[in-house]
Amino acid sequence: MADGATLRFGNKDTAFAVRSGTTGPDVIDIRKLYAQTGAFTFDPGFTSTASCESGLTFIDGDEGVLLHRGYPIEQLAEDSSFMEVSYLLLNGELPGKAELDRFSHTISRHTMLHEQLANFYRGFRRDAHPMAIMCGVVGALSAFYHDSTDISDPRQRMIASHRLIAKMPTIAAMAYKYSIGQPFIYPRNDLSYTHNFLRMTFGVPAEDYHVDPVVVRALDRIFILHADHEQNASTSTVRLAGSSGANPFACIAAGIACLWGPAHGGANEAALNMLREIGTPDRIPHYIARAKDKNDPFRLMGFGHRVYKNYDPRASVMQKTVREVLTALGVSDPVFDVALQLEEMALNDPYFIEKKLFPNVDFYSGIILSAMGFPTTMFTALFALARTVGWVAQWNEMISDPDQKIGRPRQLYTGPTRRDYVAVEAR
Ligand code: CMC
Repeated sequence: MADGATLRFGNKDTAFAVRSGTTGPDVIDIRKLYAQTGAFTFDPGFTSTASCESGLTFIDGDEGVLLHRGYPIEQLAEDSSFMEVSYLLLNGELPGKAELDRFSHTISRHTMLHEQLANFYRGFRRDAHPMAIMCGVVGALSAFYHDSTDISDPRQRMIASHRLIAKMPTIAAMAYKYSIGQPFIYPRNDLSYTHNFLRMTFGVPAEDYHVDPVVVRALDRIFILHADHEQNASTSTVRLAGSSGANPFACIAAGIACLWGPAHGGANEAALNMLREIGTPDRIPHYIARAKDKNDPFRLMGFGHRVYKNYDPRASVMQKTVREVLTALGVSDPVFDVALQLEEMALNDPYFIEKKLFPNVDFYSGIILSAMGFPTTMFTALFALARTVGWVAQWNEMISDPDQKIGRPRQLYTGPTRRDYVAVEAR
């Protein structure tokens, strides 16, 4: 670690402390920069800014490493469950058997929605995007669960966290049911978190619901792969909203809104739409050429990442899971061939090599979700469901941080300087 950093600005040297984490790059602590130099830093997109201290998730983008509380994502995806990872993210350690049972039991006891919320759904147009519904319904939860909105009370914070993790599957499944005009299916607490979600989504009151355990396991794994990802745009949104003291339901609604964008969680929907539009492998070169053309706004969706300059470890697990699910369901999807060939062609193309653009988590997930029966509009809703655990864990961490302040960036002002108002007749 460097002892410190010195900035020469004008004719004055100012020293700054350097802090080291347990792993990863050091940070230069510039909190006193403005007071000491009268200047701000300029970093739109936060490409060089650590906005907080966190002990949850670590990414080494050059090596393609993702750790949750120190555990590699590959091991968690292979051997653990989404409930276990949720406990880990929220509490810092893997649960023992009794702790996991207790946690799963607690979550299952919060799965129902206030009955009046069903009326809330009916206010949406039938063709509303599930993410629009999720933003609205999650934001509205604060109107129904007042007893868990006092953010200064750790117990209320934990109850709100459990409620959000537990209710997201119900909310997402109801958004889907509403869009297709089927009756809402109530949760069943004897089923696992993911099995229950599948039943609420695809089950109907008229018959029993059966699902291949491979499908349940695959979706649970997809949830694990999306559970948290350090200070990404939606997590930073949740933290920023929470920094003002806003209630947890409002903060998570803000995160959902941010996640919806095609550069973030909306990319899984966009990636599958793109693969379908390409349709056959012979059309891939045309799309690669478009992605490389600076005059064409088209980008390869599911490719590239702000942090990963190597293969996204989540994409490797996802690619393996596609095969498992297609085999289990006896489905052969030509889009998978297009994806494999597109990946190979891009990874051998100098443009993608030079810019270090690799498949990200969204490249393969849509193929699996589509094989399971989810329409593309539900893909980002599933991302939101899984990311909720990361959001609430990060939100809790932020509120417990004694250094926490309201997030309030500054700017480089380039507008007009002071001028006098001119009456409209004189303009
Ligand atoms: N296709 C073609 N060119 C690309 C792509 C792509 N998918 N991604 C980046 N580039 C080029 C970009 O044009 C730029 O070129 P140049 O330096 O010549 O201007 C260079 O690579 C760097 O891109 P950037 O936009 O400056 O990088 P960023 O870190 O701001 O953006 C990104 C990261 C993920 C928004 C971007 O790679 C992208 O738009 N990818 C497609 C959307 C996508 O798959 N998003 C999901 C991200 S992973 C899941 C999640 O976290 O939500």
